[in-house]
Amino acid sequence: MHAAHLTRRTCLALALAAASAAPYAAGPEAEVDAATALSDTNSRAMRGREIVPPGVILNLKGKQRNLVWQGSYIVNTTGCIDCHTHPTYSPGGDPFQGQPERVNAEQYMSGGRQFGPFTAPNLTPDNAGRPAGLTREEFVQTLRTGHNPHDPAGEILQVMPWPAVGKMTTRDLYAIYEYLRAIPSLPDNPHPGP
Ligand code: HEC
Repeated sequence: MHAAHLTRRTCLALALAAASAAPYAAGPEAEVDAATALSDTNSRAMRGREIVPPGVILNLKGKQRNLVWQGSYIVNTTGCIDCHTHPTYSPGGDPFQGQPERVNAEQYMSGGRQFGPFTAPNLTPDNAGRPAGLTREEFVQTLRTGHNPHDPAGEILQVMPWPAVGKMTTRDLYAIYEYLRAIPSLPDNPHPGP
């Protein structure tokens, strides 16, 4: 009787363990073993996954998820949205005014912040799924050199801090690109402004 009771408890414990493990096993972390879980790259991915702004619905189909999360980490912690999302925060959601933060998901990364004659462009995926209409190699080249190969020869980005961003590793730039591929495609911000 006692033994049967124990067995039942053991079964219950195993079932619970299996149940709690199941959603984990189904998630993208399943690809990650214990050693990589402690690595810097992976903790950045985990953080990146947590800090996708609420309301920004990612399309992960056909994307390398670990890279998407690392890209989110970079984009959402290094100020890309300060310039490429306008206004950066929704009404009532501006942390600089002491309000509970709410990033402007409706215009997320669709550009529109003006700096004199320069406007931060839309970095969301175009109809072909290309962020800012750039292939991955063109994207890397633009950030490394400050020259978008679609622009007239000799033109150099004047506001974009490409000399800093372009020093990231190729993997980091690929991660940014992969994240931008996953964010919602939006038309150019219809209300640009300073
Ligand atoms: C200080 C504001 C600012 C910040 C911060 C910023 N950008 Fe930009 N970015 C711009 C502006 C403005 C342009 C348009 C070109 C110009 O005149 O500099 C631009 C252009 C670009 C382009 C070229 C796109 C095209 O169509 O030519 C890419 C790619 C880009 N930014 C990515 C990023 C990423 C990724 C980050 C964060 C790591 C970032 N930007 C941070 C202002 C900014």
